[in-house]
Amino acid sequence: MNVNRRHLMTGTIGAAAVAMVASACASEEGGGDGSGGKKVGIAMPTKTSERWILDGDNLKAAFEEEGYEVTLQYSNDVAADQVSAIETMVGQNVDVLVIAAIDNKSLSGVLAQAKGQDITVIAYDRLILDTPDVDYYASFDNTKVGTLQGTYIVEALDLANQAGPFNIELFAGALTDNNTQYFFNGAWEVLEPYVTGGQLVVKSGQTTLEQIATENWDGAVAQERMDNILSNFYNDGSQVDAILAPYDGISRGIIASLQGSGYTEMPVVTGQDAEVESVKYIIDGLQSMTVYKDTRELAATTVDMVVAVLDGKEPEVNNTETYDNGNKVVPAYLLEPVSVDVNNYQEIVVDSGYIDAEELA
Ligand code: BGC
Repeated sequence: MNVNRRHLMTGTIGAAAVAMVASACASEEGGGDGSGGKKVGIAMPTKTSERWILDGDNLKAAFEEEGYEVTLQYSNDVAADQVSAIETMVGQNVDVLVIAAIDNKSLSGVLAQAKGQDITVIAYDRLILDTPDVDYYASFDNTKVGTLQGTYIVEALDLANQAGPFNIELFAGALTDNNTQYFFNGAWEVLEPYVTGGQLVVKSGQTTLEQIATENWDGAVAQERMDNILSNFYNDGSQVDAILAPYDGISRGIIASLQGSGYTEMPVVTGQDAEVESVKYIIDGLQSMTVYKDTRELAATTVDMVVAVLDGKEPEVNNTETYDNGNKVVPAYLLEPVSVDVNNYQEIVVDSGYIDAEELA
């Protein structure tokens, strides 16, 4: 499989058509040859978020079209259940594991077993830490996700021209997800100078990752924290002007909290994943932006990697420096995230076929 196919899957078709295109390319390129009988185990974190359902579906379709037998498991954000699911896959003698980890540090034991059986391990979207037994990493430029969110806030508040001060509150994802620190660091690098300079004020004083993290990326947890922030720090009539939120489900939880406490005009609120509900919020002026990451492209990249490895070839990677998992630097292929707001959602997420226009009606 090659860049062409990746391009095809990204640019011109919807998720539903992945199977068709993958199939056409497999016969064109003979991609199915030699894969017969190979087994892949896919471990995704949760079905509570739209993106992971798409990831699982896209991966399954693309691997099946390459002739692989696929086991796909979700573990409802419970790390121990994911370990058991992967143990079962190892017991089934899969040739490859593709894992989006729930807890980045819980997998060393089961991956040692996998290595003992010569199973290729791909960390999918989230890096797996503290183990030598992960072969490749397929993801997006996670720092850039944060940079896009931070930059959006700076531009939306026009900090180049407006002295402020503006009030901002910060939210991050789950501490068990390696991406969380990359997202936050990317955003904080952009925002911190304005906080230091006094143009942005964090009235809650909560600025460390530990203080702003959201267990399980859960929107309800973020909503509760926002409720507390509003009642403790904004009970003097002051308003929140911007919210750094790392993921659409968290953004919507925060927006619910703001609505509950009487906000009719929303502050600037960031997000990630271009979930249908959040794109609707963007159209309705409730959420300001999201970061779009084409999960079709990530699935195609992952299948590319696996096909190459099992063919005894070196898979294509574009980063061999950034992702040190505490044991080794894991060679990675990183895709580009895209900032989406009311001005470009049509072009980026609808015209590309990622979301059907009817879903937004
Ligand atoms: C993913 C994000 C997602 C988040 C919550 C992260 O690891 O990279 O796309 O929003 O998990 O599911």
